Amino acid sequence: MFASVIMCLERQPLLYAVTTAVQQRLGESQLQSSTKIAWCSVVLLAEPRQLYPMLETTLSAVRRQPADMSSPSAHALLWCVWTTAFPQHPGRLFKEWLQRGIDLGDMSTAVEVLLADSEWRRDQDEDLTWIGLLQHTSRPGPCQEVIRKYSCGRELPGWFRVQDGPWSKSKVSKNKPELAKYMQRFANLEKFAQPASGNHWEKLGAVIDFVEHRLSTAAPQVPDTVNEMLRLLDSFAQRREHWLKVAGGAKAEVLLHTYGLRTWQWHEVAVECGTFIGYSAMRLALQMLAGLEESPDRAGPRVFTIEVDPVQACIARHLVDLAGVSCSVEVATGQVRDVVPKIVELFGAASVGMVFMDYKGTAFHSDLDILEDTGALGIDSRLLADNVALPGAPLLLWNLAFSPSWELTAFAMTEFHEPNTEDWMALGRYCGPAGPAPAAPASWQHLSWHTDHMRRRACGLRPTEGDMFEADRVAYSRHVRRHYNAAGIQAVPWHCHARGGLQDAPPQTTVDGCGNRSGDTTMHSVSGAASISFS
Ligand SMILES: C[S@@+](CC[C@H](N)C(=O)[O-])C[C@H]1O[C@@H](n2cnc3c(N)ncnc32)[C@H](O)[C@@H]1O
Repeated sequence: MFASVIMCLERQPLLYAVTTAVQQRLGESQLQSSTKIAWCSVVLLAEPRQLYPMLETTLSAVRRQPADMSSPSAHALLWCVWTTAFPQHPGRLFKEWLQRGIDLGDMSTAVEVLLADSEWRRDQDEDLTWIGLLQHTSRPGPCQEVIRKYSCGRELPGWFRVQDGPWSKSKVSKNKPELAKYMQRFANLEKFAQPASGNHWEKLGAVIDFVEHRLSTAAPQVPDTVNEMLRLLDSFAQRREHWLKVAGGAKAEVLLHTYGLRTWQWHEVAVECGTFIGYSAMRLALQMLAGLEESPDRAGPRVFTIEVDPVQACIARHLVDLAGVSCSVEVATGQVRDVVPKIVELFGAASVGMVFMDYKGTAFHSDLDILEDTGALGIDSRLLADNVALPGAPLLLWNLAFSPSWELTAFAMTEFHEPNTEDWMALGRYCGPAGPAPAAPASWQHLSWHTDHMRRRACGLRPTEGDMFEADRVAYSRHVRRHYNAAGIQAVPWHCHARGGLQDAPPQTTVDGCGNRSGDTTMHSVSGAASISFS
């Protein structure tokens, strides 16, 4: 079942039969299996009420076996409860679990779902409770100080106990099963194993320190402080082994180009999917504020950015705040698919002038469907997607190329601070709802699955295949692009396009290998456009 969900084999009769059979024997399953089955069923089946008996069975298993609770189970179960509008509130369930003595360390990733819920309901009191828990379970250091800023000194309830004993390896198989498979053989994976902390947070702590010590301490000024912040982050990204993955260099140019392609209306927002530490959100905010003179009466956020990791969301808010643009940037916590439906509620129909997708490429196409279905996009809205060739977003590219609702231009450029590695960004223009693209061929579905595999490998989670080195990245990008080229999809080298003049290239017109216009054909139908080649 799990594989079927991951490979998007929805609505297959066999799968329904398996789901039904499994659900009938749910009571016999271990807690981890039953939460996984519940999660798969929620993803696969449309009618939430049919799922309530199954969720009830799984929740009783938690009551019977509280010690079996793990972080993925808590996350999956609370997400199921939230997304199906199950008549028990996820926040109340979570508190009940804590009162029963379930270790918060075994449920830490669930805070993302709880914050997504409380932010949606604008329950600021509950926001503070969850951020307070996050603070108490994070390691001392700059990240914890940033979380403290947003927990506003919230006292934790009397019944809450922090079990902050030393990190124990026994917790890894429970809370990070994917990692546990390899831990015994690969000692270097230990750095990923510490719950809610570890290597990643130390690195982000270094970014916070770096910026805080260098940023001018006077009251922030727009645009000077934002520019200084972006320069500092650029220089950090350059100096520290290039691990800070933000859309800098040529990618930042394409972002601003996309923003500049349309005339913005006073009520419109730019939506970023995947905030990380707020780098591109600040860049967009700066651009929007520059246009303020034309609409000085405009109020409210101009950039709405979505981040699944609550600690990173806090860091982004902090940096945006230091840069002096927090009035223009709203950071929302949660998965894109869960947060996107509230955009219309917050800003109105057709309010999204531009979307920047910069997270997990295999989710881009389905999350774009939600944006279209909820009516958030207006005609002439733009979509910009990053990492389309490395590791890849094949199904999004297919849809943009072949759906009558979209016009596609793909740009090729080198990765930020990786001059030998080619990536593509896909730029789409929304023409209004005109029907879906034909289904992507099976080879593209498989490629999509494989790009996720490479994403995990790049994070160190496929140690048997070794780390990803520059040569691997160059080769993988070439492999993905070969698929695209075989379907007639080519990319315009960004440097040629930029040299040809950004402002005068109408978006529906594509440019061949080095800047020659080719009428108003869309990119996928242009023949003879050259892909960048690297020596
Ligand atoms: C490459 S970083 C984004 C960089 C950022 N756009 C910039 O240029 O400054 C990707 C971010 O997406 C977040 N992310 C991954 N999957 C997500 C999802 N389903 N929903 C929301 N955020 C997600 C990750 O936690 C990470 O912070």
